[in-house]
Amino acid sequence: MVDRNKRLHGVWSSSRTFVFAATGSCVGLGGIWKFPYVVGENGGGTFVLLYLAFLLLVGLPLLLAEVMLGRRARQSPVNAMRYLTAESGLPTVWSGIGWLGVASGLIILSYYSVVAGWSLQYMTDMASGQLQGADARATTEHFMQLLADPERMMRWQAGFLLLSMAVVVRGVRRGLGLAVRWMMPLLAVLLLILLYYSATVGELGKSIDFVFGLRAAGLTATSALKALGLALFTLSLGVGAMMAYGAYIPDRAPVIKSLLLVILFNVLVALSFAVVVFAMVFAHSGIRPDSGPGLMFITLPLTFGNMPGGLLLGAIFFLLTAIAAWSSAISLLEPGVAWLVESRGCRRWQANLIVGSLAWFLGLGSVFSFNRWRGDINFYGFVDMLTSAILLPLTALLIALFVGWKMRRSLVREEMHGESLHVFNGWYWLFRYLVPVAVGVILVAGLFGLFV
Ligand code: PHE
Repeated sequence: MVDRNKRLHGVWSSSRTFVFAATGSCVGLGGIWKFPYVVGENGGGTFVLLYLAFLLLVGLPLLLAEVMLGRRARQSPVNAMRYLTAESGLPTVWSGIGWLGVASGLIILSYYSVVAGWSLQYMTDMASGQLQGADARATTEHFMQLLADPERMMRWQAGFLLLSMAVVVRGVRRGLGLAVRWMMPLLAVLLLILLYYSATVGELGKSIDFVFGLRAAGLTATSALKALGLALFTLSLGVGAMMAYGAYIPDRAPVIKSLLLVILFNVLVALSFAVVVFAMVFAHSGIRPDSGPGLMFITLPLTFGNMPGGLLLGAIFFLLTAIAAWSSAISLLEPGVAWLVESRGCRRWQANLIVGSLAWFLGLGSVFSFNRWRGDINFYGFVDMLTSAILLPLTALLIALFVGWKMRRSLVREEMHGESLHVFNGWYWLFRYLVPVAVGVILVAGLFGLFV
């Protein structure tokens, strides 16, 4: 079975390709758009520290776990969990982890594509010169106008989904490496330019103090849960995306170094964007750090609109953001698509059409939360909370329990045969104790804080 799937699946040409794909999945709207606004809502530096701690202590072991599971089974996440559950002789409920992942991926993709659509819209706005010299009032107004226009949002959302489906139809391995190879260096250059301009037109010092200074103000009872959710989200954990990519890694490839690299990229992108965004926030009294999901779309046009050559750079920036989102969306689509192809006998284009349409339809709820349903139903807030605060941590918890307690130890050891026994024991301890306890406690305490 596994051998057949190995052939069916093919294997990445090298671990470099895996780093590209995994980075493409992780670096996306999570670091660029979500990270700054969630940091702003949770008071800054202390929250950032929590986030970083979760990345290393919980995120890294879970990344490793998902990749190992995917590599061992070499199937879509749903079937992978089925196979692994049977291999260790466990009751079939454990294979439900795969389903939880597919469901979370679909829900995330539904609003992810809406926000990616905003980026595409802003790319054209920048290119057409609309935001030249705009002040804080003008950029806020501009964003509000977009939110008030559901048809326009739906069109961009559909366009973005079509672009993502176009890649997944051909199989994730093609095209992705190329996109990431060009995108990452370009994004890095743009970030440096942005940081430079933030220092001249923004309040860089205040921003750095906000993002890195430790203080308790702004933290709430649920902040830890949000930091955990954000860590899982930005590392693409809990939806089976990393399992799906792990399925293509060569057997003997050393993965831990690659995973650390992926985390490093992710952190650099997220932190620099936060600094750039808050430099503008503190330079304009009209914008508050806790402005929510619109934060990046209100602040960055301010920077671009007021620097030489800014409109061109702005257009490139929003294009890159859309590309980063696109390489993440691909990995959100893949688990569902792969399952439909493997188990339901769909063709790849049919599977894509099904998953893509479902995501689009579900995304309408998020589109309408900003206009037609505004004030009544915050569907976006609901699905965001459902995924980041409940589904992702829950799946993470189950995966840690699966690898640490349910799967046979010898099988886990087999997957990590490259590590010395000491190192292996350290990882195993993390899977068994630290990750489940940390995630479990935060999940329970956070939910208690949210609902009670
Ligand atoms: N990690 C992606 C981001 O930060 C989002 C994502 C989550 C992608 C889960 C795949 C799976 O934008």
